Amino acid sequence: MTKHTDNETVVIGGTAGTGPATTTDTPVTSRLFEPADLGDLRLPNRLVMAPMTRNRAAADGVPRPIMATYYAQRASAGLIIAEATTPNAVGQTYPDIPAIYDQAHVAGWRHVTDAVRAAGGRMFLQLQHGGRVGHPDNSGLTPVAPSPVPLPDTIFTPGGHQPSVVPREMTVDEIRSTVADFAAAARNAVEAGFAGVEVHAANGYLIHQFLARGTNHRTDAYGGSVAGRIRFAVEVVQAVADAIGPERVGLRIAPGLTVNGIDEGDTERIYPALIGALAGKGLAYLHVVFADPDQPLFHEIRKGWQGTLIANPMLPWPGPLPADGGKHAGERLLAAGADLISLGRAFLANPDLVERLRIDAPLNPVRDRHLMYVGGETGYTDYPTLAAARQAGTPEPAAA
Ligand SMILES: Cc1cc2nc3c(=O)[nH]c(=O)nc-3n(C[C@H](O)[C@H](O)[C@H](O)COP(=O)(O)O)c2cc1C
Repeated sequence: MTKHTDNETVVIGGTAGTGPATTTDTPVTSRLFEPADLGDLRLPNRLVMAPMTRNRAAADGVPRPIMATYYAQRASAGLIIAEATTPNAVGQTYPDIPAIYDQAHVAGWRHVTDAVRAAGGRMFLQLQHGGRVGHPDNSGLTPVAPSPVPLPDTIFTPGGHQPSVVPREMTVDEIRSTVADFAAAARNAVEAGFAGVEVHAANGYLIHQFLARGTNHRTDAYGGSVAGRIRFAVEVVQAVADAIGPERVGLRIAPGLTVNGIDEGDTERIYPALIGALAGKGLAYLHVVFADPDQPLFHEIRKGWQGTLIANPMLPWPGPLPADGGKHAGERLLAAGADLISLGRAFLANPDLVERLRIDAPLNPVRDRHLMYVGGETGYTDYPTLAAARQAGTPEPAAA
């Protein structure tokens, strides 16, 4: 059987013509490995490294050299979206997460982006304000949020897990200055060498807290109706786009996700409204967490968003990952209309994930789970490439 694709012809299950024999273990050419355009960037493939907090920055939020090594190892991703990074002091979520609000942060990130560029990669930075997901022991400040509704959970601090604190309700002036902080952080990110930024409106952090009825009890212009609850998200995205150009700005959303105690209330109304308000602004992309091609909302989002859509497949959480790390799930999403596919844990454990998926090689399983969010090199920069593992004679791992 001969299969024609845009790039080449591959032969599945035998020989054809006079060309070299190709066997069943030759992977079928996948759209995942086709190039794509994103703003001014040419991506060599459609695999995006999802943002992942790894808590390897210094206590003051300055990226450490080990982060340059980690990201450069993963430079073959079509695009890297670097981990959640705080745009101002009060927005800090956890210990040792990076920041991007002063020149020391810019200088630290510059080493990372230089290393990734030298390794042939492209990188966006995720901007995350934690809102109520924060603690005075982490930021030195009382967390702020749309309303004084505490996180129904403990939170990790340098002293271990602690009960959450009641956040202070943001004044309208504070909302405005926070919007300005996002814009300034985006400018800093570009100065630090990032190709763009991703505004984090997912996973229960500040912007998601504004979107959701359970965390937003405001009676002013930033609460109440869906139009009120999406206002902060729209203002942040607009300010960031004005600061660095819309083609450098992505937005991450997680419709229906209840992580960090989020109760959206009216998921099916929030997201069409948000997307409607942002469509046509020329943004780089929309990034959907836990996208499910079997859900009508995914198709509604696709229909409403004319630009690039990054989909992060719904894989078992917390694990284990499927043996292919999410390749098949990603291909299903591409077939359902996504343009790019983001994977998290598979990239965490496989610096050469793109090549492994291209040749259907076994994947390193995620190990040292307790080191996901803490520590140094172990569980961070010491995952081997396939070539290194073979050279060392390490047996190929069982699938994750
Ligand atoms: C260690 C770790 C840290 C994460 N940190 C972030 C983060 O900083 N920002 C974010 O939007 N999502 C974060 N996520 C979620 C991932 O971006 C991704 O959505 C999730 O891992 C599901 O993708 P996967 O099944 O391919 O791992 C994190 C996930 C992991 C495993």
